[in-house]
Amino acid sequence: MATATQVKRYAIVGTGGRIVMFLEPICKDFAEETALVGMCDVNQGRLDYYQNKIQKDHGYDKVPTYLANDFDKMIDETKPDTVIVCTTDQFHHEYIIRALDKGCDVITEKPMTIDHEKCNAIFLAVNRTGKNVRVTFNYRWGPGPSLVKELLQKNTIGEIIHVDMEYLLNTSHGADYFRRWHREKEKSGGLMVHKSTHHFDLVNWWIDAAPQTVFGMGRLAFYGKENAQKRGVDSPYERYLGADTSKDPFALKIEDDKTPKPSISTMKNMMAITEIKTSLETTSPSKTP
Ligand SMILES: NC(=O)c1ccc[n+]([C@@H]2O[C@H](COP(=O)([O-])OP(=O)(O)OC[C@H]3O[C@@H](n4cnc5c(N)ncnc54)[C@H](O)[C@@H]3O)[C@@H](O)[C@H]2O)c1
Repeated sequence: MATATQVKRYAIVGTGGRIVMFLEPICKDFAEETALVGMCDVNQGRLDYYQNKIQKDHGYDKVPTYLANDFDKMIDETKPDTVIVCTTDQFHHEYIIRALDKGCDVITEKPMTIDHEKCNAIFLAVNRTGKNVRVTFNYRWGPGPSLVKELLQKNTIGEIIHVDMEYLLNTSHGADYFRRWHREKEKSGGLMVHKSTHHFDLVNWWIDAAPQTVFGMGRLAFYGKENAQKRGVDSPYERYLGADTSKDPFALKIEDDKTPKPSISTMKNMMAITEIKTSLETTSPSKTP
C-alpha cells in the first residue's frame, strides 16, 4: 500500500463482481498515488475473498474489512478521502449520503440511484456538505461513444436539433439483467434505469445538454417465466452449480468462467453468511435521510 502523505485514500462499499474494476487501478496501476483503506459489504465471505486476492495478486496490505452495520465505523477508523459505492443499486443513495455527511467525496457506480426521491436526497446532501459525487459512466470511454463525442465537438454535422437513439441488447447481454437482483425493480429501478442510464448519459454528454423532462414506457415482452412459457420454453430445474442447463439458452454457466472464483468451501461459507445477513440487508444501513 502507498505510504506517501499525499496519497488519495479510498474505501469501498459493495464488494461484488464489479469491484474488480476499482481494485486493480487502486492496488496496482496507481498504487503509488492511491491507498485502499477499507472495504465494507454485508457478506464477510466476499470481503475475505477480495482481501486475500489483492494480497496475493498485488502484494497488498491486509485491508481492514467491515460489515454493513459498521460502515460509519469504517469511515471513522480509516479516514478515506473518497468512498466508492458499488453495492446493488437500491442502496447507493444511503451510502452516498452517509459518506458525504462524514466529509468524504463519493464515486458511485451507475445508476446513481433508482428514483427521483433518492436523487433529490443526494442533491440535498451534496448542497449541504459541498462534497463531490461522481457517477462512473464508463460507457463514454468506449471507442464508439468517444468518437461520436469527438466528431460532435468538431462540429462535423452542424447544429443538432433532434437525437434518435436506439440501443439493442442481444440476448447474451440482455439476459444478464434478468437473472439476479437486476430484474427486481425495487433493487435496480428496472432496465430503463439500471441499463438505460448509460444511454441517457451518452446523449446528454454528446450534445452537452441536461434533460428538462424524462419519462419512460416499457413492458416485459421477452424475459420472465410467462414470456418463456409463451415461447414454449419451460425447463424448470434447480439453480445450482453443476445442474444440467443444456436446454436453457440463458443459463449463466459459472463453471465456464475462467476468472478466479472462491473455493467451494468459501462459496459455502459465503452462502451461509448471505443467509445470516439477509436480515441485515433489510435493516442496514440505517434508512437515511
Ligand atoms: N458501469 C458499468 O458498466 C457497470 C457494470 C456492472 C455493474 N455496475 C454497477 O455496479 C454495482 C454493483 O454491481 P455488481 O455486478 O458488482 O453486483 P453484485 O451483486 O456482484 O455485487 C453487489 C455487492 O453489494 C453487496 N451489498 C448488497 N447490499 C448491501 C448493503 N446493504 N450494504 C453493503 N453491501 C451490500 C453484495 O453483498 C455484493 O457483494 C451496481 O450498482 C451495478 O449497477 C456497473
